Formats: sequence, C-alpha cells, structure tokens
Amino acid sequence: MKDWKDYYRHDQERDEPVGYLVYNEIILDHFKNPRHVGDIEDPDGSAVVGDPNCGDHIRLSLKIKNNKIADIQYKVFGCAAAIATTSILSELAMNRDLDHALMITDDDVIEAAGGIPARKAHCSLLGVAGLQAAIANYLMKKEQGKG
Ligand code: FES
Repeated sequence: MKDWKDYYRHDQERDEPVGYLVYNEIILDHFKNPRHVGDIEDPDGSAVVGDPNCGDHIRLSLKIKNNKIADIQYKVFGCAAAIATTSILSELAMNRDLDHALMITDDDVIEAAGGIPARKAHCSLLGVAGLQAAIANYLMKKEQGKG
C-alpha cells in the first residue's frame, strides 16, 4: 500500500512540481484575512452546503435590502482554498442585486482569485453554492410571506 511519500516521489520522478500546492498572494491574503466572516443574526436568507467528496461545508447568511445583498457572512468548515474563495465570493456578492448575484460562477471566483491550483478549483464552488442556496431560501421565505 502506498503512503503519501510514494506519491511525492512519483511526482519527483516525473520532474513535475505537483507534490505540494502553491497559492498566489491573493488566495493567501483571503485565507489569512477572510472578509465578512460571521453569522448574521436573524438573516433574510441562509444555507448550509457541503461537498460530500471531502466533507467540507459552509454556513452562509444574507441580509437583503431593496433586492440587493446588504450583508453577507459565512463560516467555512473546510480547507484553505474554500476559506479564501468563499471570502472572494463574499466580496463579489456584496451590494449586488439578486439577479446579478445569482449569475456569479465558480469561474468568476477563480478569475478574481487570480487563479488557483487545478486540483483545488472545486473548492471555489462551495461559496457559490452557498450564495445560491441562501438566495433561494430568501425567495422561498418571501413567497411564503415569512420574509
Ligand atoms: Fe473540500 Fe477544498 S478540499 S472544499
């Protein structure tokens, strides 16, 4: 049975620098200083979403005013890339109207991040999925007259 060192040696044999992850300065900054972290008290919309493959998940909550995202807060229970990309997502979503917030994709997050190692690209989906689910939660509550 292989352990992680076997994979690292294999990468070295192929002369490929893929035995470790290299994050750029934007990702590192958002990982070390994530923006908008927290829980909104009495949110207009909220959601918990996760990636069943790795077990990482986020809780995201929104305040909506005049059909715009007036506040967005989240907590990430996951990897460094999930923390950084959810932070970037929160900046992209802040003050957007709901229609435009729903159009934010994981590619938009990765572009704003200045790129991300390929095998961590999926982590950028968590924030996007959390935002979409929280907006859906808001719209559902509004439809039911609870919003
Ligand atoms: Fe699961 Fe990054 S490894 S979100």
